[in-house]
Amino acid sequence: MESVKQLKTYIENNNFNLHEISNELNEWKNSLIIYNFALDEINTKLKILNEEFQFIHNHNPIEHIKSRIKDPKGIMQKLHRKGYPITIENAKKYIHDIAGVRITCSFISDIYEIYNIIEKQDDIKVIQVKDYIQNPKPNGYKSLHLIISIPVFLSTGMQEVLVEIQIRTIAMDFWASLEHKIYYKFDKSVPAHLLSELKDAADAAHGLDVKMKKIKDSVDIFQTIGKNQTLI
Ligand code: GTP
Ligand code: MG
Repeated sequence: MESVKQLKTYIENNNFNLHEISNELNEWKNSLIIYNFALDEINTKLKILNEEFQFIHNHNPIEHIKSRIKDPKGIMQKLHRKGYPITIENAKKYIHDIAGVRITCSFISDIYEIYNIIEKQDDIKVIQVKDYIQNPKPNGYKSLHLIISIPVFLSTGMQEVLVEIQIRTIAMDFWASLEHKIYYKFDKSVPAHLLSELKDAADAAHGLDVKMKKIKDSVDIFQTIGKNQTLI
């Protein structure tokens, strides 16, 4: 309510043109449509990869995929925070997570398997890799972050579109979503004892990842030996 009042005061005092604002917001939304197409392409690639893996290796490297487009308000705030003038051109140039995909896997080995396959695709360019699994953040955050570019073909020609891909295990994802909620609940200044408990939880999540992989490997070995025995 308070903000509507502020908006009214602003309109009265500044000869504010709502029509112009609405037109400009529409222009932003139209320019961002291409990011939806990029997400469609990535999602199709990942679906094919996962189904092929299931078919050949009887194993799904991907448990879950979630994608999202940042809304114009979020993009404008991020541009402002980074000190760039708020324009569509600057958004496309400097904001690399307008289109985002989060992939969750069962095992750490799946993460790198997916990365290797993405990297080999000729139409995809890997622009940046941040490996927070090899180099976790001090708070315990682990995940593999990629910025890739993918070509999207429109009637007007081809455009390279940037997409941020985060790949993590289910355990890392569980940890990250709780950490994110806590971070915002405490308005970004989390009490020290919670930070330390979160770090312990991150270590425990990693321990679980390692343990589950060991169990899976034992099962795989057991199955291979079993198969060989039936052959003999
Ligand atoms: P921006 O955060 O996008 O300004 O850029 P950056 O250079 O810091 O990118 P980075 O790859 O470090 O992080 C990008 C995204 O990863 C964030 O927007 C979050 O979604 C996620 N992320 C990074 N660090 C953390 C963390 O400590 N906790 C959680 N829960 N998520 C994180
Ligand atoms: Mg960040």
